[in-house]
Amino acid sequence: MNIGIVGATGQVGAVMREILSQRNFPFESIRFFASSRSAGKEIEFQGQSIRVEDAAKAKWDNLDVVLFSAGGQLSKELAPKVASAGAIVIDNSSAWRMDPEVPLVVPEVNAHAINNMPKNIIANPNCTTMVAMPVLKPLHLEAGLRNLIVSTYQATSGAGLSGVQELNQQVSEAGDTAMDLTHDGQAIEFTPGNSFPEPIAFNVVPFCGSLIEDELQETNEERKLRDESRKILEIDDLAVTATCVRVPVYTGHSLAITAGFENHISSQRVEDILREVPAVVLEDVPTPLKSAGVDPTFVGRIRPDTVLENGINLFLSGDNLRKGAALNAIQIAETFLG
Ligand SMILES: NC(=O)c1ccc[n+]([C@@H]2O[C@H](COP(=O)([O-])OP(=O)(O)OC[C@H]3O[C@@H](n4cnc5c(N)ncnc54)[C@H](OP(=O)(O)O)[C@@H]3O)[C@@H](O)[C@H]2O)c1
Repeated sequence: MNIGIVGATGQVGAVMREILSQRNFPFESIRFFASSRSAGKEIEFQGQSIRVEDAAKAKWDNLDVVLFSAGGQLSKELAPKVASAGAIVIDNSSAWRMDPEVPLVVPEVNAHAINNMPKNIIANPNCTTMVAMPVLKPLHLEAGLRNLIVSTYQATSGAGLSGVQELNQQVSEAGDTAMDLTHDGQAIEFTPGNSFPEPIAFNVVPFCGSLIEDELQETNEERKLRDESRKILEIDDLAVTATCVRVPVYTGHSLAITAGFENHISSQRVEDILREVPAVVLEDVPTPLKSAGVDPTFVGRIRPDTVLENGINLFLSGDNLRKGAALNAIQIAETFLG
């Protein structure tokens, strides 16, 4: 097994390297790729020093599995070339997720989808959607999921390394004067960044991604939650409405979900079902800090809802860089290898 990571120097790429080692993923050789900015850099991996290759100039022969984590634009251009050179591409970006010829896979939910991948590309879901899938699938099997009302609390690392740096810079700009914000929200003039439309330090920003100019006026993050949930759960008419919010958290995406079902399901039954799901941990108060650096989705605040028919409320937190990205991609590779 010869594997490659495109975007090996990024946040998700770094977590991929860590998880490959932790899980003793079987491989003979490994290659790392990034842009010309990082080409030539040496990265220590399992006792070897591996030189980062420029993805724009690389030769793609003799690779079996290539994990892509370097943005949608690059994936659109490069993934078909890598796949036609003989590798299976597992792509973390949004480039291929809704392509009908590309399976969108969460192994514990729809592993069977990888049996149909005519392009030799498999897509990894969006990190927010991913947190919810292992939780919602068993509840759907039990009671028939009909609709979802979701508010998200998304970490800055979901916007790449630059998002984390923007939060860091604004927190350090505030320094000891942060308490001034208690009585004057404009007391500190934060340096505007490129990742978020408003200051992210000491704030919440109800705008993730970019606006889709149509009658719904959603962001693309909100649209992804609907489209990807439908594809992964295989419920074409699942009704989903979402508000995606960025919060000043480093890692760990959270979702407040109100789920409506075809049939009645009690909170107790939800707990009993989720207690048996290996990828899920029940927690009285799930938080992103609990989820950062570990694999499962934490679920709590499970209670009846009185707005949707047969409704249940839940709160979820999961690591957007691990299960939300790197771990799931590696689990897809493991599933593919059998
Ligand atoms: N962050 C998350 O929670 C999350 C979750 C799910 C999916 N994803 C997806 O994963 C991808 C990476 O996210 P990230 O958070 O790891 O971003 P990041 O920290 O900003 O890293 C980006 C990586 O892509 C490389 N890259 C950028 N442009 C490139 C190009 N033209 N050619 C080759 N390599 C290029 C960068 O290499 P250099 O070192 O050369 O700049 C770096 O290795 C994105 O597609 C994102 O949507 C992220």
